[in-house]
Formats: sequence, structure tokens, C-alpha cells
Amino acid sequence: MEQLKQKIREHGSVLSEQVLKVDAFLNHQVDPPLMQAIGREFARRFGGQGIDKVLTLEASGIAPALMTALELGVPLVFARKHRSLTLTDNLLTARVYSFTKQVESTVAVSASHLAAGERVLIVDDFLANGQAALGLAAIVRQAGAQLVGIGIVIEKSFQSGRGALEEQGYRVESLARIASLAGGQVSFLE
Ligand code: G4P
Repeated sequence: MEQLKQKIREHGSVLSEQVLKVDAFLNHQVDPPLMQAIGREFARRFGGQGIDKVLTLEASGIAPALMTALELGVPLVFARKHRSLTLTDNLLTARVYSFTKQVESTVAVSASHLAAGERVLIVDDFLANGQAALGLAAIVRQAGAQLVGIGIVIEKSFQSGRGALEEQGYRVESLARIASLAGGQVSFLE
């Protein structure tokens, strides 16, 4: 998606060979027209698949996932990382290990928001090692729902996430694929 790649070139900054900072438009300050375009692009790629719900993980997945859900005309559900006083129903949970933060956390969705037979699209902001998406996929499975695909805003293709998800047979669509962050430069795969 050229508009996104342009934004990354202009406003992204390379923090290390592993980490790209995009908090000017994606995960701290958020660019609404860009999110709208991202939502349209995911809806174009996954439209016609009979999607019932979009699923993401708080916090930074919410903006692109919400715009995708709006375009598809379906609800957005976000998995919570922190216990909520109101999250008292039957919970679907998964353990997610973050290599970036080196912590393991439990992510949870109330079973009342994900039903058996529903067709679910996962959307997330980054794909690194794929642990977040695998955790969300496990939650979809626990619900007896069907995972239609995984939409990623920025994929770091030099990390193992895509391979791990494809190995499980999931369709992965990424809007920007980064081949390398070496030398402080962002190189795109395609
Ligand atoms: P994985 O899920 O693909 O295995 O990724 P990993 O554990 O490495 O990532 C953990 C967190 O770090 C995620 O956010 C992810 O979005 C973020 N992240 C991974 N690589 C980058 C990067 O290069 N740049 C930036 N800016 N973020 C990255 P999170 O902990 O869920 O945070 P948030 O959604 O609450 O903001």
C-alpha cells in the first residue's frame, strides 16, 4: 500500500535493526485518514469472505481494526491484556509471549462476543514473531469460530511471524512488508 509506505518513509524512524518507531501516525499519535485508507484496503482484500467480526489486541491494533470493521460493516472485538472489572463472563484466553518486551501476558475475550461458527478476521498493527496473532487465533479456535485471515499493517518480514502463521495454514495480508532495517534504512520487500 503506497500511501502507508510513503508515511513510513517520511515519519517512521529506525530505532534499531529490529524496531521501527511509528508513533507519529500509528501507535501513539494516530492519523485518521491513513487509518481510513488502511480499513478500506483490508476490506478490499478480505471483502466477499462473509466476515462477521474483526478481532484485534489492545491497544495499537484498535485504530486500524476499527476502520476495517467500519468498512466491512461488522463489529470490532479487541482482546484485553489487563483484567477489567466488567470482564466477568466466561473468558476465552491465550498466553502471549512478547519477544520485544520479554514478558508473557494473558489476553482475554469474553465468550459472549465471539460465537461458534462466526467468521473472524484478525487485524493487528505489527507482525514480528507472530505471537500476538497466534494467541488471537487460539482464542478464535476456542470460540469454535472460523479464522478467515490475518491483516497486518506493518510486517517485519525479516522476523519469523509470517512463517509461523502460514505454517498453521492462515492467510496473511500485510500492507507494508519490511525486508530490512539495517543501517538505519527502511527497505521494503515489494
Ligand atoms: P509478535 O506479536 O509478532 O510476536 O510481536 P512482539 O511480541 O515482538 O511484539 C510485542 C509488541 O511490540 C506489540 O505491541 C507489537 O505491536 C510491538 N512491536 C513489535 N515490533 C515493533 C516495531 O518494530 N515497532 C513498534 N513500534 N512496535 C513493535 P504491544 O505490546 O501489543 O503494544 P500496544 O499494542 O499495547 O501498543
